[in-house]
Amino acid sequence: MSKKKLLVLTGGGDCPGLNAVIRGIQKAATQDGEWEVYGSIEAFNGIMRTPTEIIKLTPSKVGGIHVKGGTILKTTNKGNPLSFPVEHKDGSITYRDISADLVKKIQKAGFDAVINIGGDGSQAISKALYDKGLNIIGVPKTIDNDLSATDITFGFSTAVQIATDAFDKLVTTASSHNRVMILEVMGRDAGWIALHTAIAGGAELCLIPEIPFNLDTVIKVINKRYKKGRGFVNIVIAEGAKLDGKTIGKMAEGDMNIKLGGVGNALRKALEDHGCEPDVRVAVLGHIQRGGTPVAFDRILATAFGVRAFELAKKGRFGRMVTYTNNDIKDTTLAKAIKDYNYVKKSNFLIKTAKQVGISFGNR
Ligand code: F6P
Repeated sequence: MSKKKLLVLTGGGDCPGLNAVIRGIQKAATQDGEWEVYGSIEAFNGIMRTPTEIIKLTPSKVGGIHVKGGTILKTTNKGNPLSFPVEHKDGSITYRDISADLVKKIQKAGFDAVINIGGDGSQAISKALYDKGLNIIGVPKTIDNDLSATDITFGFSTAVQIATDAFDKLVTTASSHNRVMILEVMGRDAGWIALHTAIAGGAELCLIPEIPFNLDTVIKVINKRYKKGRGFVNIVIAEGAKLDGKTIGKMAEGDMNIKLGGVGNALRKALEDHGCEPDVRVAVLGHIQRGGTPVAFDRILATAFGVRAFELAKKGRFGRMVTYTNNDIKDTTLAKAIKDYNYVKKSNFLIKTAKQVGISFGNR
C-alpha cells in the first residue's frame, strides 16, 4: 500500500523551536509507518516554484535538529499567497491572490495533509486555504507570545532568557557608570517579552504597548532613584510601546507587517530633550532574541506540538491549530485561533507582581 503524503512548512519570522516541531512530526510519522513527510522550502514558495523546491524529511534529515535554532526548511514573511508579489516586465510589482492555484497545486502533487508552522499571519493564511478546501493544520510559533488561543508559544521562553541575560549584563555596566540603560526588546504589539524580562532582571521601569506611559512619570522615577543614592536605572521597553501615542517603525514594501524598532532611541532622545540629567544609553536586542539554541522548555513544547499536529493529520481533523492550554496539549479551530490578539491584560498576575516589587510602568 502506498504511503500517505504530508507537507510541512515554516512561515513568517523564524523562532527557536521550529526544528523541534519538524523533527517531532517526522518522528511521529516514522513510528506510525503509514506516512511520508516532505518539507516545502521557504514556506509556500517551495511548492509554488517551478520546478518545486521540496525535500523529503527522512530520519537522518531531522536527527538532532531539535537543538538547532532557525528552520531547516527556511522561511519568509514575503510569501503570502493571498497577496503574492508578481513582478512585471517593467520591474513593477503588483500583488495577487494565488491561493486557489496553490491549493490545486498541493492537491495535484498528491499531498494528503499540510502542516503550517507559523504565527498569526501564517495561521490566517492556513484558515483561508482551509476554506478553499485544503487539508491543513496549524502549529503556532512566535517569540512574541501574541496568539490568544494558546497559553504560550515555543520560542517565547528562549527570547525571554536571551533578553534577561542581556539585561543582567546591562545592569553591571549601568551601575559602574551611574547610567540610565534602556533595553529595547521585541514583541510587536504585545509586551510579554518586556514584562517577563523586567521581572526576571529586576528593572526599575517596564514600558509596554498595553500601558501608555508618560515621559514626566518616567523622569520622576529616574530622578527619585538617583536622589535615593541608587546611581543607575534599568529600563526595559517593548518595541511596540508608544511614545507620545506614536508607534516607532516603518512599513517596508511587500512585508506583511510594519517593521517596529527604534523606540528605545526615541525614548533616549526624549529624555535628554526633557532635561534628564544622567547619561542615557540604549541597547537594541533585535534578532538576537530569535537566534540560537532553544531552551529546554521550548524544545519540549515544540516537540509536543509536532506530535499533536501529526495526530490531527492522521485523524483527518483539518482546519485546526494545536494549542497549549491549562498545562495540556489541545487544539482549536483555525477560525478561533486567529480571532483575538494576546495583549497583556492589566489584570494579569504579572502586572501586579511587577508593581509589588516596585517596577513602574511609567503611567502615573
Ligand atoms: O514576530 C516576531 C518578530 O521577531 C517581532 O518581535 C518583530 O517585530 C518582527 O518579528 C521582526 O520581523 P523581521 O524579522 O521581519 O524584521
